[in-house]
Amino acid sequence: MNQVIKTFMNHRSIRDYKEDMIKDEDLDVIVRAAQAAPSSINGQQVSIIAVKDREKKSKIAELTGDQLWIDQAPVFLLFALDFYRAKLAAEKNGVDLAITESLESIMVGSVDVGLAMGNAIGAAESLGLGIVPIGAVRREPMEIVKMLDLPEYVFPVCGLVIGYPRDTSSLKPRFPKEAIYHEEGYNKNLTSIIDDYDTQISEYMRKRTKGESDRSWSQTVSEIYKTVYFPKVSPSIKGQGYENR
Ligand SMILES: Cc1cc2nc3c(=O)[nH]c(=O)nc-3n(C[C@H](O)[C@H](O)[C@H](O)COP(=O)(O)O)c2cc1C
Repeated sequence: MNQVIKTFMNHRSIRDYKEDMIKDEDLDVIVRAAQAAPSSINGQQVSIIAVKDREKKSKIAELTGDQLWIDQAPVFLLFALDFYRAKLAAEKNGVDLAITESLESIMVGSVDVGLAMGNAIGAAESLGLGIVPIGAVRREPMEIVKMLDLPEYVFPVCGLVIGYPRDTSSLKPRFPKEAIYHEEGYNKNLTSIIDDYDTQISEYMRKRTKGESDRSWSQTVSEIYKTVYFPKVSPSIKGQGYENR
């Protein structure tokens, strides 16, 4: 296994950080690695907004449901899907921007964000830094929009906390490969795989929480997905100019 693959396979989310600031040159490399990711039509439908200011980080921690690691770590990067530059391109060329009337634009921008963030994560971890993604930036999207002065067509998709890990959590087991990898067609026989994985995750949780929780994968997922947990996404993304149809 080469070093790049070892870094990917060693990923774990970190929720306890030292206060030490990360080096400017490391942040620069992380952002440039993110920019180097492939992008739909080379539209580069991503913007990254760095937040280091303590008060702003505190506010983001609160808006995302008191995620203290945002306060603790020195850098928070917001990854936003961005068709603002596409809007400027349309104006420059005297045409209307129509794609933002379709869900397609949200998919394009979200995939671009995911790819860019994946690169940023790999780069950060290869430098010995820890990370945790923060999807909860979509809990109060318009508050984030206002705080960071995001123009129309720019919408917060995910945050990324970066800093020096105070401790390293253990690797979280994944499904066996056959659950997510299919050859020539989708294999729907997943019941026993899920049962086995539930047992594995229950055990992992028991160890991680020192006996406080033994919640299985299916219990966690069904609990979270039984509600529309971020109901403001749809009206907020419309507010930023996306028709979402
Ligand atoms: C898009 C996305 C959003 C996430 N949002 C949060 C979040 O808001 N808070 C958090 O603590 N972890 C968040 N996570 C981290 C996941 O909980 C974590 O990746 C998952 O449990 C697997 O654990 P691991 O990263 O340690 O392997 C997010 C991960 C992703 C990919």
